Amino acid sequence: MQKVKILSEKLPQHLAIIMDGNGRWAKNKGLPRIEGHRVGMEKIRDVMNWCRQRGIKVLTLYAFSKQNWNRPREEVEFLMRIFEVYLEKEFDNLMEKGVMLRVIGRVEELPLSLRKKIKKIMQKTKANEELFLNLAINYGGQEEIVDAARCISALAREGKILPEDIDVELFRKYLYTPNLPYPDLIIRSGGELRISNFLLWQIAYAELWVSSVLWPDFTEQDLDEALKDFASRERRYGAIKGD
Ligand code: IPE
Ligand code: IPE
Ligand code: MG
Repeated sequence: MQKVKILSEKLPQHLAIIMDGNGRWAKNKGLPRIEGHRVGMEKIRDVMNWCRQRGIKVLTLYAFSKQNWNRPREEVEFLMRIFEVYLEKEFDNLMEKGVMLRVIGRVEELPLSLRKKIKKIMQKTKANEELFLNLAINYGGQEEIVDAARCISALAREGKILPEDIDVELFRKYLYTPNLPYPDLIIRSGGELRISNFLLWQIAYAELWVSSVLWPDFTEQDLDEALKDFASRERRYGAIKGD
C-alpha cells in the first residue's frame, strides 16, 4: 500500500502499453505462438487491476495492429477468436469494476461476430467511469490520422470549415478518442525499441519505457519499475527547465 502511495504522487493519468513478446514467450517454452497470445490476453485483467489500484484513469492496450493481418491465417483467426472470448468472459468484471471499454481501430474490418460483441460491450459499459480501457484492435496510428483527415476534408468539401480552420486542436477532435488525455507513459514489453504504428499523433510528448520482459511474464513489479522511472522524469514540452 505504502509503495502505491509514493508512486501516486507523480502518476501517469493515461498509460499505454504495447503488449509485445507473446510469440517469443511461447517459443521459449516449446509451445505454439497462439499459446502465448492466450496467456497474454489473460494478463489484461491483471494490468487493469494494477492500474485501478494505483489510480491510473486511462489505460490503452495495443492488442492487434493493422499490420498484424500479415501473419499466418491461423494465428490471425485465433487472435480474433480470443478477442471474442475476452469480451464475453470479462463483461461482468468490467461492470463490477466500473470500467468503460472502448475498442479503437478500424472495427468495421473485423469479423462480424466480433464486431457485434464489441458494439454490445461498448454500449453496456459506456456509463462506467472508474477506468477508461481502450483496446486497440486492427489499429494503426497512420490509419487513425488518415481517418481523421478524411472526416475533416469531408467537412471542408461541404463548406463547413475552411482549410485555415484546421489546426492541432481541431484535428484532435477527429481522432478515435477525442475526449481522453494523451498518454503520459508508453510501456513496450518484449524489448523492441520501436513504436510499431501505435498512437502516433498522441505520443508527441509521451515518456517511453521499454521492458525486456515478454508480455505473458509481465508483473506488477515490472509495472512499478516503469512508474517509478516515470515519476523521476522531467517533462519539458520543448520549454526549458524551471528554476
Ligand atoms: C504481441 O506479441 C501480440 C501481437 C502482435 C498480436 P507477438 O505475437 O508480436 O510476439 P513476438 O513479438 O513475436 O514475440
Ligand atoms: C506491435 O507488435 C503490435 C502489438 C503488440 C499488438 P508487433 O510484434 O506487431 O511489432 P513489430 O512487428 O515487431 O514491429
Ligand atoms: Mg511482436
